[in-house]
Amino acid sequence: MTADHNRPTVVVVGSTMIDLVAYVSRMPGRGETLVGDRFQMGFGGKGANQAVMARLLGAEVVMVNCLGDDAYGEMTLDNFANYGIDTTNVNRVPGASGVAPIWVEPDGSNRIIIVPGANHRLTGEQAARSVRRTPSAAVVVGQLEIPQPTTAAAFEAARERGATTVLNPAPAARLSSGLLEMSDWLIPNEVEFEMLTGSSADSDSALVGFSRETATRLVVTVGEQGAAIVAGTGDRVVRVPAPTVDPIDTTGAGDAFVGAFAVGIALGLAELDAVRLGNACAADSVTRPGTQSSFPRPDRAGRFLADVMAT
Ligand code: RIB
Repeated sequence: MTADHNRPTVVVVGSTMIDLVAYVSRMPGRGETLVGDRFQMGFGGKGANQAVMARLLGAEVVMVNCLGDDAYGEMTLDNFANYGIDTTNVNRVPGASGVAPIWVEPDGSNRIIIVPGANHRLTGEQAARSVRRTPSAAVVVGQLEIPQPTTAAAFEAARERGATTVLNPAPAARLSSGLLEMSDWLIPNEVEFEMLTGSSADSDSALVGFSRETATRLVVTVGEQGAAIVAGTGDRVVRVPAPTVDPIDTTGAGDAFVGAFAVGIALGLAELDAVRLGNACAADSVTRPGTQSSFPRPDRAGRFLADVMAT
């Protein structure tokens, strides 16, 4: 594969899940059975979602992950093929693929449980080999739904190749020093930021402090308010507002942001423009139900990219 700067290559080393989404009027209490309003099954997993968003923006996308040998694994492979995502580095193991029961309330907010299954079987050797096999990779993206040492090995291989590494530390967990050392960018949401630091993402000094402490570039997504980036020489925070929309389902919005931001960086956009692109795709996604199914299709995503490039 050769590098094409108009169609950069983004490698996503991460998770796939089948999302089992119930739309409910409220959360049931302990021991209570509640009648839901609607159910939707869809393709999810933070890694897969980010891969799909990057692909919808026109990037060449290579997915590196591990699926079970069940029907969900087959369905996931078909889904990647439909998007034109490279599945050469998708591994299979006996057992169950990842699943994610999700509950969405009327205000669009979600609660998610992931059961990683085969996602936890991707090894560091497999992940690093896959990255080395993709010399055109401009950006390598990871999350925390697969083991941290696996992502660290992939990022190390990415660094050897001169690719930029972007870690979405979700679901929040203490970050190993090995993974942090290999991460160029960290993109938590505000809840994850608070879990990682004990501080609110409203605090500029907390953002600057965390970026310094981890020696990473930092973007924190802050829901309907958009995103905050530690900019300049790492001493100031720029808060970039998101377009105002009426949310109906926020599931996967953070992944739309990360996938779009990764494309922006891979294209060599200014960092603030990459954040704007992330905001536009994420805000648009919350106006539709589902996860990948809610992401802007290529025409619309392409317009967001063109708008950002025109400013
Ligand atoms: O970020 C949303 C995603 O988190 C869902 O698709 C679900 O699968 C979990 O990975």
